Amino acid sequence: MNIQFLEKERIFKIDTEHVSYVMAVMDDEQFLEHVYFGRRVGDSDLRYLLRHRENPYTVSSNGGERGKVLACMHHELPGELTGDHRDGAVTVRTQGGHTVLQPYYVSHRIYKGKDRLEGLPATFGHADDTMTLEITMEDPVLHVRFLLSYSIFGDTDAIMRNMKVINDGGSAVRLEKALSLSLDMDVFDGDQHPFRLLTLDGMWVRERHMNFRDIGYGFQGISSNRGETSHHEQPFLGLVSPNATQHVGEVYGFHLIYSGNFRGQVERDAYDCIRVTLGINPDRFAFTLQPGESFQTPEGVMVYSDAGLGGMTHTFHDLYRNHLIRGVWRDKKRPILINNWEATYFDFDEQKILDIAREAKKWGIEMLVMDDGWFGKRDDDHSGLGDWFVNEKKIKGGLKKLVDEINALGMKFGLWFEPEMISPDSDLYRAHPDWAIRVPDREPCQLRWQYVLDLSRKEVRDRVYEMVSNVLRSANIEYVKWDMNRTLTDFGSTCLGADNQDELCHRYVLGLYEMQDRLTKDFPNLLLENCSGGGARFDPGMLYYSPQIWCSDDTDAVERLMIQEGTSLIYPLSTMGAHVSVVPNHVVGRSTSFETRGNVALAGTFGYELDITKLDDKDKAHIPHQIALYHKYNDLIRRGDYYRIASYRENHLYDCYEVVSKDKTEALITYVQVLKVPEDRSRILRIPGLDPDKEYAVIVDRTGAIAPEDDETMVLPVGPRTQMRGDALMYAGLPMPNFWGDFRSALIYLSEI
Ligand code: GLA
Repeated sequence: MNIQFLEKERIFKIDTEHVSYVMAVMDDEQFLEHVYFGRRVGDSDLRYLLRHRENPYTVSSNGGERGKVLACMHHELPGELTGDHRDGAVTVRTQGGHTVLQPYYVSHRIYKGKDRLEGLPATFGHADDTMTLEITMEDPVLHVRFLLSYSIFGDTDAIMRNMKVINDGGSAVRLEKALSLSLDMDVFDGDQHPFRLLTLDGMWVRERHMNFRDIGYGFQGISSNRGETSHHEQPFLGLVSPNATQHVGEVYGFHLIYSGNFRGQVERDAYDCIRVTLGINPDRFAFTLQPGESFQTPEGVMVYSDAGLGGMTHTFHDLYRNHLIRGVWRDKKRPILINNWEATYFDFDEQKILDIAREAKKWGIEMLVMDDGWFGKRDDDHSGLGDWFVNEKKIKGGLKKLVDEINALGMKFGLWFEPEMISPDSDLYRAHPDWAIRVPDREPCQLRWQYVLDLSRKEVRDRVYEMVSNVLRSANIEYVKWDMNRTLTDFGSTCLGADNQDELCHRYVLGLYEMQDRLTKDFPNLLLENCSGGGARFDPGMLYYSPQIWCSDDTDAVERLMIQEGTSLIYPLSTMGAHVSVVPNHVVGRSTSFETRGNVALAGTFGYELDITKLDDKDKAHIPHQIALYHKYNDLIRRGDYYRIASYRENHLYDCYEVVSKDKTEALITYVQVLKVPEDRSRILRIPGLDPDKEYAVIVDRTGAIAPEDDETMVLPVGPRTQMRGDALMYAGLPMPNFWGDFRSALIYLSEI
């Protein structure tokens, strides 16, 4: 790892172990030109790659062709409308209404460590293993300064970038766009193959499905204007060369550490150059900066891999596990929970909760989570949000009594909240109707019969936080599910002036971060799980506060294969909330085996979401075996390297993935035969990531399949326990079990002998 400024060449060179990122300051006018981002290269002069040199431009000799050069140059921080007609990364409007902007290089500093981003989640590292390059740029006419910061860590190839905008001028300016990432590169890789765009898209109960598309001319991309990350898009852009597989080929990944409106865009121009940008969505965004005031963008992550999609995945997983997630639970096995949502919905009382807890305890479950419906007047989703006081008609004797009883069983207790919301039918709303986000004289849109609280207001945050923390202090509550069940609409705050209304969405996110920061500081041992109507807030911003996030309200094992595939492309398995629920599944009506539901949920945080008091004995008998599997494999699943072996999304028949321990002494393969194909031979799949020289015991772990008939319907080509060499498994492959029937699965454990 190193960051240098090569004085003679005027080149900035950022090197991680395998990756280089290069920029150069132009000779005459002090533009910062992007030169290279890819596989690590040596320190020789790379200025021959500067685009403007092919079409020489100097102010003194060729100023008349300035525009032509700017239009095809690779800019590091593109401004606006000075000759480059592509979409810029920053827009500043003067009081005269102009937006022309050209940032020039002024100075830089290279230092050990990395500064915190005020009020925003960001990566962190030890000072002796972290380096930062801060480049100061300035528009000399407006006197607006831009601090572009790039940070790297010794143990990962990711490069972090953020920008701070400071108004050094004498009058106020309006910042209308400030993107975190901007990169100009050619659409073709070095072998002249055009990169394809990879995005993670979906909707409620179908989050983060992987989608590939060709990059056409003009704009394409992703965005959210819903006030949160959303079910629909993820603040992630991938560029994938067409010959790339899981294991080879070039892949770029760009991700934003943020939980609000975002826009990620790829713009292909006539030169076949692509400008990749990612940051806060400029729609509904504007901040007025008075003289001396500044604005900090969220942090963006840039990853390059020449080891295919899997290489990119490993970099994101290690980055987030080691440099973003915090708190006592980060590296710990989480308690196996049972949540009553799909078991009871709103129809429960303390006796029902206790019945579930008692039965769950018998089978080895470790924590009871009481979901929506325990507070205020809340017998359905029409009322009660905002009234964070236990409803003693339902929870007779109060919360403490219930929690004590559950603790006495030897179980932990967790609780659901939706702190950002307010029901029109609530005491809080009757007292403070202006606390909802809305525009005067206009009836705001209800979603799930609720409004969103204006978290940009301190008194709102303080009041809600006080209610939530009072509940948490009133009993031994060791886990919180922080939910958020609607998008933002009717953007308006009674506390912001006419010129400041476009600050609302970002201020909302800052308010949310402030509340979660307080929560994690005041209750440092609390296990926090973020959630938003399923997986609408699965984003790296939330990971800074909670080590796990509810992945989706869809707990069907087959749908989960695709949701978890897209999620685990960039997020560590330790962060993916995954539960076993009943069949027919409540979302899709599909029936899969209890064993397969368990095997698929084991790839995440693992728990149950069902009425265990009503489960038949055959299903219930699986639970202790699944719990044994969790305890046996969870350390490996949380800490290991994840490999995607086959994708049901692609082949429509089967799915296969693997986690290998960092020292390659053990691995766990999950194979799911979604649809049976009528053939008598088994599928042979290559098993990546092993040590070719090690001998492994190959054990088909049937612990989760307690019914003897399960085994009779499976043809196991290699026997339940075989010995194989790593190179044979990696290069020749391993025959997979061949099941009779659909939705069947197996765990295969490899252990060094
Ligand atoms: C959201 C969550 C669910 C459940 C309900 C409760 O949909 O994703 O898990 O908590 O809210 O209303």
